[in-house]
Amino acid sequence: MRLLITGSSGLLGLNLALDAARSHHVFGVDRNTLASVPFELIKADLLDPDAVHRILDESKPDAVIHCAALANVDTCESNPELAYQINADFPARLADACARRQVRLIHISTDAVFDGQKDGAYIENDLPNPQGAYAQTKLEGERAVIQINPTAIVARVNFYGWSLSGKRSLAEFFINNLSNGKNVNGFTDVLFCPMLVNRLGDVLLVMLERNLRGLYHVVGPQAMSKYQFGVEIARKFGLKESLISPQSVDKSGLNARRSHNLWLSTNKLSTDLGMTLPSFSTGLDEFYTQYQQGYPQKIRSYQQTEP
Ligand SMILES: NC(=O)c1ccc[n+]([C@@H]2O[C@H](COP(=O)([O-])OP(=O)(O)OC[C@H]3O[C@@H](n4cnc5c(N)ncnc54)[C@H](OP(=O)(O)O)[C@@H]3O)[C@@H](O)[C@H]2O)c1
Repeated sequence: MRLLITGSSGLLGLNLALDAARSHHVFGVDRNTLASVPFELIKADLLDPDAVHRILDESKPDAVIHCAALANVDTCESNPELAYQINADFPARLADACARRQVRLIHISTDAVFDGQKDGAYIENDLPNPQGAYAQTKLEGERAVIQINPTAIVARVNFYGWSLSGKRSLAEFFINNLSNGKNVNGFTDVLFCPMLVNRLGDVLLVMLERNLRGLYHVVGPQAMSKYQFGVEIARKFGLKESLISPQSVDKSGLNARRSHNLWLSTNKLSTDLGMTLPSFSTGLDEFYTQYQQGYPQKIRSYQQTEP
């Protein structure tokens, strides 16, 4: 399969492109961040007016996995217009171009579209109620994609893994700080369903193979608090869990409001795929094995250095 991946320098896009390149012809869209990657690069800023058609013309893909986004919640809050352009307007144009060319599309959305007030797990039919500019623009993006291109898959995700910068994911935040003996806060009142980014990539590719369409929750099958996640990471990596202080997110002083409950049901996905999703502990074991095998350094080596 010829596979076009946007955001190929990002946490999801890079891990996905590296894994997929083992069995597919992968093209990654990059703004000049990557070097020496084992897949083809197409240089493009997605905000350029001709970017949608150029990246499709250059790659002639069978499928696109759209991972690029303005994913920093606080940056979205301070620059909602830019957030709208990247998270809502671009996906709409991409969905239209893919529909016209009969190219399969997976659009990556977020668990954060919900307000977190539900008692229990959210299903795909639950009504979103975004709490800030990031969630609002991501919701507008997913709605536009489904309306314009009903054969597209919209995947609401949450994941962790090793990133290009070494500090993009929550897991890296805990590891970096605890390794340096630093105290950190872990939110006890934010529930989420983290999945190892590489396992998420596998599931997305299976969804494409099985020709799924429409909205899916593609997260880990186990809900936990961010505090508990930090403790699990600390235990696995032999770090001091006592450095993590349990705290309420409401006392964190963060700019954008965070939802308390982002427990998403994956029943629809596992039923339609006829498979059980990888458990949290399986993913965590693999995340640790990656660490032992030097995968974090490998990922960081793809960062372009100044000439
Ligand atoms: N991280 C999570 O746990 C999480 C949770 C829920 C949903 N998501 C969703 O998952 C997807 C991937 O997130 P991520 O964490 O991998 O994001 P990320 O690490 O912040 O990466 C974002 C990617 O988008 C690219 N990008 C942004 N603006 C661009 C532009 N104008 N032109 C070209 N490329 C542009 C970035 O390129 P540069 O490197 O050049 O900036 C980068 O490759 C997003 O849709 C996000 O909303 C993530």
